[in-house]
Amino acid sequence: MSNNKIAILGLGYVGLPLLQAFSRFYDVIGFDINTNRIKDLQTSFTKNTKSELNDVVFTAKKNKLSDANIYIITVPTPLNEDNSPDLSKIKSATELVAKYLNEGNIVIYESTVYPGVTEDFCVPILEKISKLNYNQEFYCGYSPERISPGDDRFTLNKMIKITSGSSPKVADFIDNMYKKIVDAGTYKASSIKVAEAAKVVENIQRDVNIALINELAIIFDGMDLNTNEILEAAETKSNFIPFKPGLVGGHCISVDPYYLSYKSKKLGVNADIINVSRKINDNMSNFIVEKTIKILNKKKINIINSNILILGYTFKENCADTRNTKVKDIISQFIKKKINVEIFDPYVENNHDFNFIENPFFNKKKYDCIIAAVSHDHFKNYKVDDFIKISKGKLVLLDIKGMYNFSTWKL
Ligand SMILES: NC(=O)c1ccc[n+]([C@@H]2O[C@H](COP(=O)([O-])OP(=O)(O)OC[C@H]3O[C@@H](n4cnc5c(N)ncnc54)[C@H](O)[C@@H]3O)[C@@H](O)[C@H]2O)c1
Repeated sequence: MSNNKIAILGLGYVGLPLLQAFSRFYDVIGFDINTNRIKDLQTSFTKNTKSELNDVVFTAKKNKLSDANIYIITVPTPLNEDNSPDLSKIKSATELVAKYLNEGNIVIYESTVYPGVTEDFCVPILEKISKLNYNQEFYCGYSPERISPGDDRFTLNKMIKITSGSSPKVADFIDNMYKKIVDAGTYKASSIKVAEAAKVVENIQRDVNIALINELAIIFDGMDLNTNEILEAAETKSNFIPFKPGLVGGHCISVDPYYLSYKSKKLGVNADIINVSRKINDNMSNFIVEKTIKILNKKKINIINSNILILGYTFKENCADTRNTKVKDIISQFIKKKINVEIFDPYVENNHDFNFIENPFFNKKKYDCIIAAVSHDHFKNYKVDDFIKISKGKLVLLDIKGMYNFSTWKL
């Protein structure tokens, strides 16, 4: 296959770095339905990073997709209200590609899905609209993304990338494509379904392990024991796996388990551990709210109209990503209880419904309680005196991430 041109559909956290990487080796078309995103990229990307060797085109025009022969789909795969997979975006991107599909083309999916979505859900759409036959006239692949937003250690080229293809020849072709852009190398899975399953397993494993530690944290809290201290002691065992308690939000760990759980239900298999882990982790925000109220009551602080400062809003540290952040649940519950909540997060723009403030340590306002919810590096240098200065009476500091050695309570 010569003169390959890659079209990437969905230029978000996953699609854009991928396009950047492939543009060093291939002509690329970046397509997104969000026209503002395309406008921004047309100015910023082209000016700063334009590849000197290859064509880079950003477009929201569907017919531009006809120029490509390899399509990579990196659109969101969120959840519906009832936590079932919302495949509407992957469906519409697939329908679009199908219109322009020609003989010999390859469609690679990177969106996180349950095993079977590529071949049992997307391929029939591709076949029906394109009127081409799968694995005879067009081919598919699946290569899950592992990037971790905000963490330079885990960028696209630094982690082994799983690849797969619908035939051995196509699997080799796709694997060679990705080998060019991933310094850490690739792992060619034996089938598309294996590659799809591997991705969800990675995140389910984390979710389940964190759920166990969260359960332990609640038990030990009832005994006035600090879980971090217990974990530190237990970690001296050579084969102890270090997980920390905490809020599990974001677009991966808190979403992907539901995808496999949905599929297992269809098979009539109970995904007990997966489901209960989701429940435990989802419930942690309630636990934090109840704990805060208990501590305030104990300190004889009237919770109605009390002032709480929350440090951090993102779903994880050192990034601006607020998707499915559980801090939002905590804030909403406080507001329902008529507590005044102010939030400081240097990464987050003040465009949410809540009361975001500038750095409170430069202000005179005083709080009944401070909750350190996200361990941004920015917060780690605060000293006990900084907190005392912005506290109404005695310092009440709830430290969800175990950042300070002077906190009132740690998870
Ligand atoms: N963000 C991560 O760190 C990460 C890591 C691994 C896997 N994933 C998975 O990758 C997929 C994409 O996630 P993301 O974080 O890049 O999402 P994102 O929301 O950052 O970006 C998705 C982009 O797709 C566009 N889009 C939506 N529907 C489209 C369509 N029909 N055609 C073209 N463009 C469309 C949106 O406008 C948006 O710009 C998801 O399945 C996610 O679970 C994400």
